[in-house]
Amino acid sequence: PCNVVVLISGSGSNLQALLDSQDEKNAARIRAVVSNREEAFGLQRAQAAGIATHLVRHKDFADREAFDAALMAIIDKHQPDLVVLAGFMRILTPGFVRHYQGRLLNIHPSLLPKYKGLDTHRRALEAGDTEHGCSVHFVTEELDGGPVAIQAYLSVQPGETLESLTSRVHAAEHIIYPLAVRWFAEGRLRLAEQGAMLDGNPLPGTGHL
Ligand code: GAR
Repeated sequence: PCNVVVLISGSGSNLQALLDSQDEKNAARIRAVVSNREEAFGLQRAQAAGIATHLVRHKDFADREAFDAALMAIIDKHQPDLVVLAGFMRILTPGFVRHYQGRLLNIHPSLLPKYKGLDTHRRALEAGDTEHGCSVHFVTEELDGGPVAIQAYLSVQPGETLESLTSRVHAAEHIIYPLAVRWFAEGRLRLAEQGAMLDGNPLPGTGHL
């Protein structure tokens, strides 16, 4: 099996999708969930599923390096093969990213490389985009800039609102994140020098290291 640790900051609906995708046929095993916020509803989802939870409050640390060191210590206790960022809203230090290079995935609510950062749905609507979506990518030191593993494309509908677009993208996230995690757990998805690879083939249009 592939030991997975999931990092969250909020609702944890992506965590829920990952929990729901766990079965004997899935090599991915969620061993622990770590949150930087105690109000994160995802902690309750993890507890309801019988998964170990940890709270590491970023406010308790003097700087990012100290926070990330505490995070790494807790994560590494679970001997992760994969660390999954699922709505984890802290920027990670280069040391953290390097430590988990090739085994750190993030989901981002846009068609990367478009709309890195926050407020992605509003920005896509304001730009009049006809397509929007979400991306799972390997995390590198460039924020939201690592090689893409899978994307879901949605057509922006006439009369689309921020609420409808947000909820449709969320639904797509809940499909592609469990898929990418399963691929990784099966050894099908990996990070190489030239970018993300699936079944030994370079994925098109993705970044490199
Ligand atoms: C998701 O839409 C995810 O793509 C986004 O936060 C949301 C978390 O929802 N992540 C980012 O914006 C990362 N910069 P969830 O807590 O319900 O999974």
